[in-house]
Amino acid sequence: MLEKIEQLKREIEALTASTKEEVEELRIKYISKKGLVSQLFADFKNVPADRKKAVGQSINVLKNFALDKINSLKDTFENGEQKKSGQDLTMPGEPMRLGTRHPLSIVRNEIVDIFARLGFTVAEGPEIEDDWHVFSALNFPPEHPARDMQDTFFIQKDPDVLLRTHTSSVQARVMEKTQPPIRAIFPGRVFRNEAISARSHCIFHQIEGLYVDENVSFADLKQTLLYFSRELFGETTEIRLRPSYFPFTEPSAEMDVSCSICGGKGCNVCKYTGWLEILGCGMVDPNVLESCNIDSKKYTGFAFGMGIERITMLKYGIKDIRHFFENDVRFLRQFDSAY
Ligand code: DAH
Repeated sequence: MLEKIEQLKREIEALTASTKEEVEELRIKYISKKGLVSQLFADFKNVPADRKKAVGQSINVLKNFALDKINSLKDTFENGEQKKSGQDLTMPGEPMRLGTRHPLSIVRNEIVDIFARLGFTVAEGPEIEDDWHVFSALNFPPEHPARDMQDTFFIQKDPDVLLRTHTSSVQARVMEKTQPPIRAIFPGRVFRNEAISARSHCIFHQIEGLYVDENVSFADLKQTLLYFSRELFGETTEIRLRPSYFPFTEPSAEMDVSCSICGGKGCNVCKYTGWLEILGCGMVDPNVLESCNIDSKKYTGFAFGMGIERITMLKYGIKDIRHFFENDVRFLRQFDSAY
């Protein structure tokens, strides 16, 4: 039986036709109800049970092969006459679909634009970093748990070559190179040794902000963040600052925005609290300024840092962070209204 199938396949492969009628004859001979391929299905009854699976699959493959072959012969005579090149040059072209911007890029650009309106410039730093810029310059004590292998990806055996765990490292790089006034944001990719789940990933993106000048106060920080939140989430958005701790800021806070989905009434996204945590912030610790050769008697500053994935998920109601990295076009096409 398999031999017969194989032989028929060779026969079909070699088929040619010079008129539309000849194609029709071939169609009847091979794939009509009484055609040779269809007869195989009748013979299938007599195949022993243990061979049925293999033989059945081969017949199906042959059937599709025969259909394709006859259809492609038919195409050649589509308009009643044979197309010379096999291609009809009068047919409309296949549209070329443009790609769309990734939702993370859309939201990053939006955030950059908002801060640009407040006079913040954009700077970037390296993803492969050293201990100084990620931890030491930012006032992390030597035994701080964030330095641990469980959080940080170290490269090779050298503990001084690591993937940055936050974009705060760019603060240190910028302050080392520039004297105040500094007003800039630092978007970028960060890495943490975390198990991948719906809520966390080992690669994600942050935007860091830094403002250092004479007389920068906590009130400036608060007003900047309020403006930012209203531009991003809508003009009725409220913010609240909760005391927190980060080694590089003193005092430190975490900021919540009123839930833009339920308007603060309580829903399953804000876990019925009416608030969503979106960033960490604070006044730059004088130790950090001094580490970067900035006079902490003369200058003060504020800093903040937020995760772009988290904000994008809240803005668009995306429930699983892994969507951002799978690059399924059915997901990606939903966001960019420019196309
Ligand atoms: N680097 C912090 C993190 O990765 C976020 C952060 C908190 C940045 C407070 C800041 C800040 O600049 O002031 O979680």
